Amino acid sequence: MIRRRRKAKAEKTRKTPPARPAPARGWRGRGAGSSVYVQAAEEWRGTTVQVCGLWPFAAGSGSPMIGVPIGRNLLTGATLCADPISWFQRAHLISNPSVFLLGRPGLGKSTVLRRMGLGLTGYGVLPMVLGDLKPDYVDLIRGLGGQVIELGRGRGRLNILDPGEASAAAERLTGSARAQVIADARGRRHTMVATLVTLLRAAPPTDHEELILDRAIGVLDDRHEGVPVLPDLIEVLMQAPDDVRQITFDRGDMDRYQDATDPLIKSLTAMLGQGRLGEIFSAETTTPMRRDRPVVFDISSIDPGDEMLQRAALMACWSSGFGSINVAHALADAGLEPQRLYFVILDELWRALRGGRGMVDRVDALTRLNRQHGVGQAMISHTMADLDALPDEDDRMKARGFVERAGMVICGGLPESEMPELSRVVGLSRAEQEMLVSWVDPPAWDDATGEETAPPGRGNFLVKVGGRPGIPVHVALTAVEEGLNDTNKRWHEQSSLADVGEAEPEAIA
Ligand SMILES: Nc1ncnc2c1ncn2[C@@H]1O[C@H](COP(=O)(O)OP(=O)(O)OP(=O)(O)O)[C@@H](O)[C@H]1O
Ligand SMILES: [Mg+2]
Repeated sequence: MIRRRRKAKAEKTRKTPPARPAPARGWRGRGAGSSVYVQAAEEWRGTTVQVCGLWPFAAGSGSPMIGVPIGRNLLTGATLCADPISWFQRAHLISNPSVFLLGRPGLGKSTVLRRMGLGLTGYGVLPMVLGDLKPDYVDLIRGLGGQVIELGRGRGRLNILDPGEASAAAERLTGSARAQVIADARGRRHTMVATLVTLLRAAPPTDHEELILDRAIGVLDDRHEGVPVLPDLIEVLMQAPDDVRQITFDRGDMDRYQDATDPLIKSLTAMLGQGRLGEIFSAETTTPMRRDRPVVFDISSIDPGDEMLQRAALMACWSSGFGSINVAHALADAGLEPQRLYFVILDELWRALRGGRGMVDRVDALTRLNRQHGVGQAMISHTMADLDALPDEDDRMKARGFVERAGMVICGGLPESEMPELSRVVGLSRAEQEMLVSWVDPPAWDDATGEETAPPGRGNFLVKVGGRPGIPVHVALTAVEEGLNDTNKRWHEQSSLADVGEAEPEAIA
């Protein structure tokens, strides 16, 4: 009896915890490990080879891993690889190799495309930046050993009547391939002249004028030795050749011919020399574009206030770039050149669309290819409201079609007002909408430096494919990219000049 009591006393004084299950928040008391909240389990990422031994605690990540590494999933930390070409060609995740980027200015849209362009060169794809207004892509393309073509008043010209490589390619081709290359080049030149007329008048040329233009370009090609320029086309119209007269239905009356062609001649003349478009499009091309290298058209020297010239330059670059790609396809199909893959970047789409009625059709015509095979396309605009700001309902619907038809839509921070329209086109859940809206929050002030911190939404994007849930991702720049990606370079250069000025005034002199 005494022995049993002693044993019970010894048990009472023993320090080991009693054998009952721990409460939900752990053992109470100092040093016993109780927690005020239930902690989420730690998660790690590893390769299939490493993680398989942890079965059944491993779970596959939902993020696709095929293509250019973009960044980490904001929710799971998983790596996301994505680009329109790999997702179309190898992963079969999207129905066509195109991406449309939307987002408020300065949140990193161009930066994502630079990342994709850079990554795709690793897969042997040639990035083609058809019109760089900032310049955002020049350093990258130069770094890749590509071609930088400068366009602007007094800097570089792009003759819109130059068939480019199409003439040389046609010589090497036969039969229908040859006919197709010639027809495509002619169609593009016609579209480009009509585009400039549309921009000057803020309205498209009439159907009759389009016919006259087409016939005049045909006559010009037959008669002219070498590469024609815009004054040659004007001369053809002035000379009133029979072919063109027929289409004007002048019935042998020169006055009727002049009535039909004068408005067109006036518009074309306004594009020459000291006209509003300068001589950029009406004189011999300064640097012909190559189709075997990365290319960027640097149009950053054009004054941002000169909106018409910016639009015209963008359209001319698109026309020339897509023309070259078409030639490359025709030559590759005929077995004369290797099959090349291109990643075409059309930044600042909204600028071109604002050129007046009919511009959407022109963009559509210029960015169309006979064979889409082998071309990934990326378009950037700010908001759906930009597309909806077009004056014509027809144009608005077609512009929305650019987003609807894109294989992949990538959205950065966007205001609440965008949500109804955007949800209609890409299907966003309430949580996704809230995420996008939170990314436009203004940056905080940094008390220590007196400067703004980086905007909270910079580098954050939601990748949407069809009606599937979006993948939120943060793009973190590598050290190399940070050097290439400084699109605020001019500001920095100026502030460093100011620093020099403050410290040692003589250094500037
Ligand atoms: N993921 C990122 N991390 C850090 N800085 C970034 C990131 N993305 C972009 N930036 C920086 O933010 C600035 C603006 O980026 P970017 O030009 O890509 O924006 P954008 O959306 O294309 O703007 P815009 O609509 O005006 O063309 C640049 O200085 C760029 O270096
Ligand atoms: Mg940009």
